[in-house]
Amino acid sequence: MIAGTMIGSGIFMSPQWVLYYMGSQGASLCIWAACGLLAMLGALSYAELGTVIKESGGEYIYILRNVGSLPAFLLAYTSVIVVRPAGIAAISLGFAEYVVASFFPDCPSPQVVIKCTAAACILVLAIINCMNVRLSMFIMNFFTAAKLVVLLVIIVGGMVLLVKENTQVLQNAFDNTATGFGPVGVAFYQGLWSYDGWNNLNYITEELKNPEVTLPRAVMIAIPLVTCVYLLVNVSYFASMTPQELLTSDAVAISWGVKVLGAWTWIISLGVALSTFGSANGTLFSGGRTCYVAAREGHLPDALSMVNVKRLTPAPALIFTSAISLIMIIPGDFSSIVNFFSFTAWLFYGITIFGLIFMKIKKPDIPRPYKVPIIIPVIVLIASVFLVLAPIIGSPQLEYLYVVLFILSGMILYIPVVRYRWSPGWLHCVTLHLQLLLEVAPTDKND
Ligand code: ARG
Repeated sequence: MIAGTMIGSGIFMSPQWVLYYMGSQGASLCIWAACGLLAMLGALSYAELGTVIKESGGEYIYILRNVGSLPAFLLAYTSVIVVRPAGIAAISLGFAEYVVASFFPDCPSPQVVIKCTAAACILVLAIINCMNVRLSMFIMNFFTAAKLVVLLVIIVGGMVLLVKENTQVLQNAFDNTATGFGPVGVAFYQGLWSYDGWNNLNYITEELKNPEVTLPRAVMIAIPLVTCVYLLVNVSYFASMTPQELLTSDAVAISWGVKVLGAWTWIISLGVALSTFGSANGTLFSGGRTCYVAAREGHLPDALSMVNVKRLTPAPALIFTSAISLIMIIPGDFSSIVNFFSFTAWLFYGITIFGLIFMKIKKPDIPRPYKVPIIIPVIVLIASVFLVLAPIIGSPQLEYLYVVLFILSGMILYIPVVRYRWSPGWLHCVTLHLQLLLEVAPTDKND
């Protein structure tokens, strides 16, 4: 679940952008390593949170329990309406770009075809996830294995190249390195997109067997694995292409394939398709759970907290998340979604980690199956403050302001909906009809 969600579109798209912002290969590799380290430290902190607060919902539930109802509501509102669907839309667009490109070898693929393919991907995933939890887990496992095989092909290909010819690749590796807050911050955003998903098990804690053991163990296996794979894949890209070639490529992994595999490049296209499809599946799976938990806590309409009586899947939450993702496909494009995704995500990761530090200081005696040394969340908190501020200070853009305004606009809803429990009659009627149509019912909490 963790590795399968983390490895998605990023490793096939972002290396180019990290290089673009950092200016040199050596600095790019440092960014990739630093992102992996940050994901690891973040995930270890989350492991403590997940084993103390054994409820699903990730950041939402931790902020609700440790920080307060208003910030949790703002998170649910932003995450359910924007962040999660944007993530699913971006990955599906990545999927569509690679799948469609193989049918249009000599000309650019038509945008309509790309968008329709992305929409088809989301629809298929929504149906699978509403039908059967086990089926979506099978897809997760199968696709994770497949993408690891493809990445291994890239790594081995790179090694062969390094041994055969290009041993001078990493000479003068730090020439032209960019400095300054802005570029480093944005390079981190691109890299961290590839690592995003490190917290994915925390969204589904209630569905884990023995989370006290499983959660920390999964994190400790998955994240170092993904970090090593990402670093080696980058080295392989650098071994086969000069920085100029990398920067001007339309699709890094395909350019690598054309150079190294020749007629076998289709393996890479297939690999990217499998990888993105699997990652979108994990993102929808966990995104649906956040929506479901927030509705269960009374922060979103009741219908979203219901579960299908036969299939035991949170179908309304999954359908709602998929529907918004479908809408986002219409205007969206991959790279702009990514920067704003990371900005918003790290804002909330920071608040969650702040809550953990607070919990460690205020309630030192609650039983903790897994304990993280306090220095780790402190480092993650400092990093997230840097990540949120650096691009704003270094390369300010109006869009960051829009994100903040959107988050704050949630306050206007909070007061009537949560504070005064305003619920119009028509909503009740819609809920009843949805219950009949989707055969869903409220659930007991899984304590
Ligand atoms: N790391 C994934 C990629 O490179 C994106 C995962 C987004 N999903 C999530 N649950 N955070 O495409």
